[in-house]
Amino acid sequence: MKSSSIRIGLLGCGNVGAALVHLLAEQHDSVERRTGLNLSIEAIAVKDLNKNRSIPLSDEIFTDDASSIVGNPEINLIVEVMGNIEPARELILGALNSGQPVVTANKELLAAHGAELYAAAENSGVDLLFEAAVAGAIPIVRPLRESLSGEPITRIRGIINGTTNFILTRMAQDGASFDEALKEAQELGFAELDSTYDVEGYDAGAKVAIIATLAFGVEVTSEDVQHEGISKITVDDMKFANQLGYCIKLLAVAERKANQEGRSEVGARVYPALIPLSHPLAAVNGSFNAVFVEGDAVGELMFYGPGAGGRPTASAVFGDVIDASGNLQRSHGALIGALDKPHMIPSENLESAFYLNLKVEDQPGVLAQVTEVFGNHGVSIQSMEQEGMGSEARLIFITHSSREKDLFSTLESLRALNVVSDVDSVLRVIGD
Ligand code: NDP
Ligand code: HSE
Repeated sequence: MKSSSIRIGLLGCGNVGAALVHLLAEQHDSVERRTGLNLSIEAIAVKDLNKNRSIPLSDEIFTDDASSIVGNPEINLIVEVMGNIEPARELILGALNSGQPVVTANKELLAAHGAELYAAAENSGVDLLFEAAVAGAIPIVRPLRESLSGEPITRIRGIINGTTNFILTRMAQDGASFDEALKEAQELGFAELDSTYDVEGYDAGAKVAIIATLAFGVEVTSEDVQHEGISKITVDDMKFANQLGYCIKLLAVAERKANQEGRSEVGARVYPALIPLSHPLAAVNGSFNAVFVEGDAVGELMFYGPGAGGRPTASAVFGDVIDASGNLQRSHGALIGALDKPHMIPSENLESAFYLNLKVEDQPGVLAQVTEVFGNHGVSIQSMEQEGMGSEARLIFITHSSREKDLFSTLESLRALNVVSDVDSVLRVIGD
């Protein structure tokens, strides 16, 4: 097979970028033998030229001026693994507009400016590939873009942030504190530079926006996603959840439903949820991710694998690099297609079962007062547990699925009761 040289410009050489350099060095000959592509990294942009990188490439190819790589006719393809919105957005647009295909892992950028970038790629007829932006090493972007492009997808649920899943697993299984587990996730290269982005659900929110866009063909941005994080989850919540047959995971949900007038509406949310221990998502631990795709024709599909970390993520980036390089030889690019503006599901129409953890006075008649409040708001109780704590008692309720707005007004009324001293936790519960 005749060999074609593809000269790569790498923007960023941190966890993912450095792992890509190593993977390419290891796999170069085998990829060339199979595909005829002679891939080489010819330029690398970083912030700090003095950092020790220990990668098998000469110092001479490093620059702290990323714009010198973009649009450079000596560079055939750009890999962006620097993160953040700017200057990544401007650099990627510059690359696409000058005909350089781009591979990126930057979910934050795609969830905010995806439509603009997809349009720029389409106008230039080059690839913008981003398998690594959602769920690390798991192939989910390409299946949604290609294999499932004809599937009427109804719902996607998953665990799509490795850092938070790692923290929750370490807390539940090993009794680690939140801070200890977060520090470990940072050391292992799972967390974003600003870990609030992981912990408060922004990262999973960006990923679910990308998933909803691809699955439903509408332009969902991170601003359309309601997200909650895991910083308020306590070891006590995990213990109570476990006693009731559940574990707690940060869940991302993208769904499409017809409303009462038959109009198609889309929902995209991230929240910590109680998941039955018998559910396959309950077995997804550590930095692993899993994505369930539900569709009218396929039924249910499950994708599972490492969701974060330099080397697994670099594997997804590398696959895109090979794909984009092949497409460059054949002069065609993968398309996202036209995106409509979404109609988001109004929050008053959302429904869920809930877990509530209340502290109340331990006196006769208190339980009756509390349960009456649920009844007054039309929220039906599925189960209740009580635990004595001296002069106070803890009440744990699991409700049947009810309208979220009814549950929130129940909470307001409960907080107003003199006998309720605290509503400690309120979490959604998913069914089997
Ligand atoms: P790191 O923080 O480890 O690396 C970022 C790299 O970008 C560093 O080499 C940094 O330079 C460089 N950089 C940052 N800003 C600039 C700039 N303005 N000009 C030139 N270089 C710059 O991040 P990760 O490797 O962990 O992540 C990279 C991307 O991949 C992010 O978008 C992230 O969300 C995404 N991602 C990460 C995953 C993971 O598990 N880590 C998984 C999936 C996606 P310097 O080294 O000098 O500081
Ligand atoms: N910080 C991200 C996570 C990296 O923990 O999932 C993978 O996108």
